[in-house]
Amino acid sequence: GKSGYDHYMLKEIHEQPLSLRQCLSGRIDELDGRITVEELDDLSDHETVQFVACGTSYHAALYGAQLLRAAGVAANAYYAHEYATSPAPVSTADLVVGVTQSGETADTLSALREASRRGAETLALTNVVGSTAAREADHVLYIRAGPEIGVAATKTFSSQLIGVNLLTSHLTDRGVKRRRDFVDDLRGIANDVQAVLDESEAAAVVEEFVDSDAFFFLGRGLDYPVALEGALKFKEITYEHAEGFAAGELKHGPLALVTANTPIFAVITGEGEAARKTIGNVKEVEARDAPVVVVTDGVAEAGRYADHVLEIPTTDERLAPLLANVQLQLVAYHMAAHLDREIDKPRNLAKSVTVE
Ligand code: M6R
Repeated sequence: GKSGYDHYMLKEIHEQPLSLRQCLSGRIDELDGRITVEELDDLSDHETVQFVACGTSYHAALYGAQLLRAAGVAANAYYAHEYATSPAPVSTADLVVGVTQSGETADTLSALREASRRGAETLALTNVVGSTAAREADHVLYIRAGPEIGVAATKTFSSQLIGVNLLTSHLTDRGVKRRRDFVDDLRGIANDVQAVLDESEAAAVVEEFVDSDAFFFLGRGLDYPVALEGALKFKEITYEHAEGFAAGELKHGPLALVTANTPIFAVITGEGEAARKTIGNVKEVEARDAPVVVVTDGVAEAGRYADHVLEIPTTDERLAPLLANVQLQLVAYHMAAHLDREIDKPRNLAKSVTVE
């Protein structure tokens, strides 16, 4: 049942501290902090990784590809349906990773089969034990989020983000002791999510925006997939027009849509160039009188430029986007609740899309 929550989605959002602990359980050595993923022990070394996925899982893939590139691995993320239509060159030296919560998404299965046929080693990053993707791929890494009933993926996305971090560690520092601070932050992620859940002001913030024309979500770098995911969740369950943009794309077109009646959610985590540039984009939309909500860890002092701030705890910059996403899950959920939508079964959508 829903354990007292109004919807499965809210229950699953609140299960995240637990599902993240399950995902990490036994995968960080208690003594030396080394990340070890037994299932990946017989995975070969790879210098190129291609991710294939759809929907929310594609956003986790985009994030994963960036993590790997930052660690020196040539990695890309593809929509599985596009990949199946026009596959990237692939060889036996490449790893193709299908990210799929259900393990049954037809497009993702087709892309994995195509990659396999062309000689690549394949890995399924999935939640469902014994699913088709898990059975067909050469390797499987389970995210262990537990069953997800809500059509809108929430806890499984968070666990996918951790899953691609585990994969990145496995591929790039096998045998090397992880930097202590990253492992400490990884161990603390469940508590950080709990803090977001306990303190989020998302419900109050969205109430102001019920009569808006459209909702835009911006992010750069690792915050970009979170912006896309924030918009996807929002459109799925509120039926309002929402779009996610790479913050840098704004002035190449989307800025034409920005008015005083289009709230902007800007995801700004970490410090440095990316955050500074997105703050610049926030100023651009403010000049068009758009209301701005900044989702931030406060590191870049981005909150100064916002009408509202949704705060997250500070953590490693690879993990901060996961926390920002929890705020956006709550944004979507509370807006849908205000609008009295069918949150667990949005119109026209199915939990798992088993036809191409
Ligand atoms: O089971 P999968 O992860 O392969 O599903 C992929 C998408 O269909 C799925 O993430 C969809 O976008 C969700 N409804 C998002 O909330």
